[in-house]
Amino acid sequence: MLNGRRVLLIIGGGIAAYKSLELIRALQKRGASVVPVMTRAASEFVTPLSASALSGHKVYQDLFDLTDEAEMGHIELSRSADLIIVAPATGDLMAKMALGMASDLATTLLLATDTPVMIAPAMNVRMWEHAATQRNLETLRRDGIYVCGPDEGDMACGEFGFGRMSEPDSIADAAADILLNGPLKGKHIIVTSGPTHEPIDPVRYIANRSSGSQGTAIANALSALGARVSFITGPASAEMPEGCDIIRVETAREMLDAVQVALPCDAAVFAAAVADWRMKDATDRKIKKNAAGDIPVLNFAENPDILATVSQMKKNRPRLIVGFAAETDDVLENATAKRERKQCDWIVANDVSPETGIMGGTENDVTLITENGLIDWPRMSKNAVAQKLAKQMADELK
Ligand code: C5P
Repeated sequence: MLNGRRVLLIIGGGIAAYKSLELIRALQKRGASVVPVMTRAASEFVTPLSASALSGHKVYQDLFDLTDEAEMGHIELSRSADLIIVAPATGDLMAKMALGMASDLATTLLLATDTPVMIAPAMNVRMWEHAATQRNLETLRRDGIYVCGPDEGDMACGEFGFGRMSEPDSIADAAADILLNGPLKGKHIIVTSGPTHEPIDPVRYIANRSSGSQGTAIANALSALGARVSFITGPASAEMPEGCDIIRVETAREMLDAVQVALPCDAAVFAAAVADWRMKDATDRKIKKNAAGDIPVLNFAENPDILATVSQMKKNRPRLIVGFAAETDDVLENATAKRERKQCDWIVANDVSPETGIMGGTENDVTLITENGLIDWPRMSKNAVAQKLAKQMADELK
């Protein structure tokens, strides 16, 4: 039920850390993938090797690990998950979180993130009942942090009372509740992605350049907020999003048909790079070279404009329609005109000139154009653009 959901599990330094290894399993059993982060103290209780072997992921430990910064900075790591779980959340970690400290990798991630955070406290009963811990708990709750447990029972230190970390299955169930009740719960969203291929003959085609990676990131971000996503994709090289209905098509006309079948929806994001033209008369036999060296003449016909067609529908028009404008010249003027011409609600405009490295790359530099004007977003990863867009859409669809 959590297929495709990503959890960043911060393991704190307490005796309950051994249960966090079971928590990795419990989350995986529900379909989530888990990336572990361990504090220095945590590695006194369980080994990074165990966490890595169980999760199937590298364990992140040190803020100053330069290789990680090159691969994925701490800001990116903090936002790469749909939920961050801190388990065990020790008294020390809770105090640092409440104060907003960023003194190691775990606390820096927690300060930098904008994804939901859940803590599973675990400590001695006196520490739990201490006025300072209760004050910190209050602060964390007010900051919107979810809290699971602690439970009452015998403790490793020989005392009895509240302070035992909740059982891994209860923590995983609480995580599922948060993940499945996002702000887009109950909303159906169509996302188009990738290029289209328009056949010339059975072996050749014309196409647009598109990896589909921005579309995949958007589908993942929308489904992480609880939306049901119909992902309609041309032949893309990017990975498919997880937890979405995937509908594969080849041509623009097939893409339009698939969109019409998937309707109605609450919102649609048309991120596909649809070919504007197809062959007027595609042949079902391979075009051969002839002895005279004649060069074939290709006659084009116009493809349907999916974004414009859906935006101008009189019945069943989605409440919010987002188009993309990939331009190389006069980006904002062209994109603004495109929004009006096609009659979509928002346009995400970006400059895809080769020198930007955006096409096929991992980053994007976009401007969101709405009826209220232009909002320039700083250059960020395609995942971050997707998450920002998904949040903005969730606000709009409230
Ligand atoms: O006109 P242009 O191709 O630049 O417009 C880009 C936007 O329109 C994108 O959102 C794209 O997915 C959509 N589009 C479409 N059908 C087409 C052409 C573009 O949906 N035939």
